[in-house]
Amino acid sequence: MLCYINYKSVEKPLPWDNILVEIGFGRGDFTVRLAKENPKKEILGFELSAVSVEKLLRRVKKEGLKNVHCARIDAYWGFYLLLRDGSVERIYMNYPDPWFKKRHHKRRLTKEENLYIFAKKLKEGGEIRIRTDHRPFVEFTLEEAKRLGTFDISVRKLHVEEPLTKYERKWLSEGKELNEIVMRKIGNPPPRDIPTIKEVKELFPIKVEGKEVDLSSLEGSEHRLGERVYLKFFKLYEGEDGYLLETLLSEEGFVQKFFILVKRKGQDYVVDVSPFSEVLRTENVQRSVQTVAEKGFRPLSR
Ligand SMILES: C[S@@+](CC[C@H](N)C(=O)[O-])C[C@H]1O[C@@H](n2cnc3c(N)ncnc32)[C@H](O)[C@@H]1O
Repeated sequence: MLCYINYKSVEKPLPWDNILVEIGFGRGDFTVRLAKENPKKEILGFELSAVSVEKLLRRVKKEGLKNVHCARIDAYWGFYLLLRDGSVERIYMNYPDPWFKKRHHKRRLTKEENLYIFAKKLKEGGEIRIRTDHRPFVEFTLEEAKRLGTFDISVRKLHVEEPLTKYERKWLSEGKELNEIVMRKIGNPPPRDIPTIKEVKELFPIKVEGKEVDLSSLEGSEHRLGERVYLKFFKLYEGEDGYLLETLLSEEGFVQKFFILVKRKGQDYVVDVSPFSEVLRTENVQRSVQTVAEKGFRPLSR
């Protein structure tokens, strides 16, 4: 398995057991240390930042590590899409963004629905270990975790050893107290409604016959495809043999940007995802193509 995991095309779920997962690895200091200390285990990192992913890939190559993998994806969806239930031994979050303002708390990595998916993927006795310098974040996390009722939780004052991560060095130089929250899975969380995405094996092009293309009304338009599923079209580009429509699809907060291609074929048209756009193939991507095929054409004027 490659170091960089392209979650859009990789075969899912990933085949490993007892893996160690780090969420938000930043510069990758901790990830590299973890990999060296656990040479027989697979280490998987999830990050949103492309720069961080690049840095980790370079470091892993330079150090010749074979057991490090990473994906550029939000942690909730990384766990949801890529991992088997009960396959994770430990999850690490070091100094996750605390999102100070109350209205931003829903972005916190330790909100209840995230902890739910993490708990499902952990094996019995597996742990989530969170380091933070922010006491209100500790209180928030404990409240969210207690509501799930599937963890044995403890908080301890952290005495970190060299090598320190960038943030540890900063917090310690500012005299801050660092804490570690340890949550040990003691049972499976009861089933509940969670954000979901339905993947499909294949996306199908749609042929439009006997109609005239009229995509101008789609440019800038928004469509609701279902509960928490929104589709928006931005700019329309015209080429020699067709059109490209800039598209944004948000499914339960999972956002994809891609182009829909409307290609002339003789008297007819074919609507499809552009071959230059790599997407996670989902039911709603197919419905986006269908929306263009339905709303982007008018009857032939005689
Ligand atoms: C404050 S930095 C800490 C970096 C590193 N762990 C350290 O200790 O130096 C938080 C990191 O988490 C990443 N991050 C934030 N939200 C995330 C999410 N939902 N999924 C994956 N990574 C996330 C950010 O891109 C950022 O690199």
